[in-house]
Amino acid sequence: MVTMTQPVNRVIRWGIWGTGGIAHLVASDFRLVKGAVLQAVGSRSIGRARQFASQHGVQKSYEGLEALLNDAEIEVVYVATPNYRHLDDSLSCIQAGKAVLCEKAFALNLNQARQIVEAARQRGGFCMEAMWTRFIPAVIEAKRLIDAGSIGSVRLIQGNFAYSVPAGPDSRFFAKPGGGALLDRGVYLISLAQHLLGVPQSIRGTSSTGETGVDEQSAYQLGFAGGALADLSASLRVRGTNEVVILGERGMLRLCEPFYCTHRLVYRSDAFPRAMTQDGSSSSQGMSRFIRAVKEASATKYTRRRLSPLVDALRRGKVLGFPFPGNGYQFELREVSHCLREHRTESTIMPLDDSIEVMRTMDAIRDQMLPVIPPDTSNVTLTRS
Ligand SMILES: NC(=O)c1ccc[n+]([C@@H]2O[C@H](COP(=O)([O-])OP(=O)(O)OC[C@H]3O[C@@H](n4cnc5c(N)ncnc54)[C@H](OP(=O)(O)O)[C@@H]3O)[C@@H](O)[C@H]2O)c1
Repeated sequence: MVTMTQPVNRVIRWGIWGTGGIAHLVASDFRLVKGAVLQAVGSRSIGRARQFASQHGVQKSYEGLEALLNDAEIEVVYVATPNYRHLDDSLSCIQAGKAVLCEKAFALNLNQARQIVEAARQRGGFCMEAMWTRFIPAVIEAKRLIDAGSIGSVRLIQGNFAYSVPAGPDSRFFAKPGGGALLDRGVYLISLAQHLLGVPQSIRGTSSTGETGVDEQSAYQLGFAGGALADLSASLRVRGTNEVVILGERGMLRLCEPFYCTHRLVYRSDAFPRAMTQDGSSSSQGMSRFIRAVKEASATKYTRRRLSPLVDALRRGKVLGFPFPGNGYQFELREVSHCLREHRTESTIMPLDDSIEVMRTMDAIRDQMLPVIPPDTSNVTLTRS
């Protein structure tokens, strides 16, 4: 655990627990994070740990979580194991006095999420769900524009997260417990909607269940205070548009595919500048009137051709680019490292209460999807009776 005597610019020493697909992607983004070092890797197999270490230039490799946690130099552990391991693995890290960055979904259900949060708060250590989307620059800009009122009051969020993956009980996507479209993909959409609109007041969920008993596709409708709605869906079976569109009363934002780590944000303002309307109003009707007037005034083919890009741009919106190197995990790694240097126990962008509320929403959705399963049970087995 960190003490107050440590220098504020100290290097943060990380360990990774698990050597699967995501661990490799995150490990390769450490080179983009100043003042953070991936110092150790732990695996159930020392062979895999060594191989991972040599591939990513990691100094130490360990067999088993306990061995990794016994390394006093490691300040924070990135838990990169399957969803059904997150509760036990995170609790072990917290009890060993390590800070924790735990992969999404944070846990299997609300009860498990609460256990992790309570343990972290009791121990006084840092803990965060690795919901990297919240730290992607285009997503941060989208939230800034919304908070600044640039698209007016948000009324509707539409989005899907859908890529086809090979089926089978050996795949973590389809395995129980912990698999399914909701826990793997829906969590991104729900977390994003709640990041932008707060906790939903009404929740509806539906799913189609595959042979292994998990939701291979699921859809969610969330209703928020003031009447905003989110219409979201996730699939392990088909390729979707993988975009999120945010519709406000005076404009639109689109997080382009793949929305969860996008480099592109489309911003369209429907508001006509006050100074240019006769009655001094600022409205989307003003913008429509302006476009109509431009078209009507373009009597000749020449002026129509010259003005059509402007009209199209007004209709479609402006594409804002937010390019970044690497895979996009550097932003969450930076946030955690920064919080640790500042002696914070939570991120303000991805606080633990938000992880709890997202899990509460997912429990409510799952309650409707698979009604025989109690949504709030620890060590839940997602089996139909
Ligand atoms: N943020 C993202 O973009 C993103 C993307 C994909 C996945 N994820 C999340 O990351 C987590 C891991 O996903 P993944 O795709 O990396 O899965 P994966 O390829 O199956 O890797 C998981 C790793 O966890 C370790 N592990 C420890 N205990 C295990 C156990 N009992 N059973 C199986 N593996 C165990 C294994 O490493 P050892 O064999 O070395 O012990 C395994 O390679 C999931 O929570 C997933 O939701 C996040």
